[in-house]
Amino acid sequence: MGNKISRMYMPLAAAAALTLALSACGGGTGGGGGTGGEGGAASENLDGRGPITYVQGKDNSDVVRPLLEKWNKAHPDEKVTFKEQSDNADQQHDDLVKNFQAKNADYDVASVDVIWTAEFAAKGWLQPLKDTLKVSTEGMLPATVETGTYKDVLYTLPQTSDGGLLYYRKDLVPNPPKTWEEMMGMCSIAKDKGIDCYAGQFAQYEGLTVNVSEAINSEGGQIVDKEGKATVNSPEAKAGLENLVDAYKNGNIPKQALTYQEEQGRQSFEAGKLMFLRNWPYVYNLAKTDGSSTVKDTFGVAPLPGKDGPGASTLGGHNMGVSVYSKNKATAKDFLEFMTTEETQKFYATQGSLAPVLASLYDDADLIAQLPYLPVLKTSIENAVPRPVTPFYPAVTQAIQQNSFAALQGSKTVDQALTDMEAAIGTAGAK
Ligand code: GLC
Repeated sequence: MGNKISRMYMPLAAAAALTLALSACGGGTGGGGGTGGEGGAASENLDGRGPITYVQGKDNSDVVRPLLEKWNKAHPDEKVTFKEQSDNADQQHDDLVKNFQAKNADYDVASVDVIWTAEFAAKGWLQPLKDTLKVSTEGMLPATVETGTYKDVLYTLPQTSDGGLLYYRKDLVPNPPKTWEEMMGMCSIAKDKGIDCYAGQFAQYEGLTVNVSEAINSEGGQIVDKEGKATVNSPEAKAGLENLVDAYKNGNIPKQALTYQEEQGRQSFEAGKLMFLRNWPYVYNLAKTDGSSTVKDTFGVAPLPGKDGPGASTLGGHNMGVSVYSKNKATAKDFLEFMTTEETQKFYATQGSLAPVLASLYDDADLIAQLPYLPVLKTSIENAVPRPVTPFYPAVTQAIQQNSFAALQGSKTVDQALTDMEAAIGTAGAK
């Protein structure tokens, strides 16, 4: 099946790593230059204790504030202030880069999207989580720990995972579609009701990379092969991208979906204007509890549809990293541990329907009783395909976003978009 094949995703090319190693040597940013963060800022303030700031994207699920309240009560001299960023993954990334470049000592602990560890570690911005800063990853899903590891060193501690799910209206489609084709076949039901059929995240930002990768992987294609070489110009990848392009052309994906990030799709679904939505687990809790949700009792959750059966989700999620410029690294380490205890993980799940990184919680009967989608989510995460692991990820995702968006809009053919995407990913490693 497609997802098995495409699970062979691995770190981007050795060539890229070599280029990086060379540039890192001459970098001298004071952060230790990329291989282990030894020396420079990374060797300072390891015992530092005091107030710190935690930087994270918009807390849609309202989990951060209650946790900080709890922590702050227990640690009056080491209070944590929340710096909340926007809800757009690209903007969060750029804000972190800007502040790391400025050596901002106030960005002590950052929420690091799974795709950024390699880049931030290679730049020497993240404190290696070893020696006095060593934290345990015991019991965590191996795929999540991998996202925090760069060159065999843990730089970011998994906090919450993420796997794509299909939200559907069970009052309109009692049996959710198992394949993309089946789903497209059901769009006439939405049409008869006068509502939109399917949306995911199709605005031009990281969410598009996630959705396009899923379309490609689900058809048995790959963005890069296991050596990290771009292999996206293939018949399988073409079939995947074509699924999205055709659905957009024939209206099964509505026009406005090209402006959707996670939140716009969620709002449309909750308003009853959309029959199928690809989104992350956080939507479950909000669609059930939001005062304005009109689908509280009428929605269900299913695996993403694929070619002959379940599709391949893209692995998402967030880890926590400590800035090498932080003055209070001992406090930061304790805070990382507090934010990832079993109790906290349960809170993420029950309060925000966020995906735990602790494997055992997926088999916790009480939790399953409360969150019946957990087994579906576990399957989604276990079969999820990581995005390319490379310090040059920003250029790789740009190549995917720009070309797939052009194909959706119709300004490039699917063939041209994939040819250009493959070439641009190929040169990304040399940047
Ligand atoms: C979610 C995922 C993250 C992904 C982002 C894209 O936040 O957890 O990994 O990059 O969505 O919008």
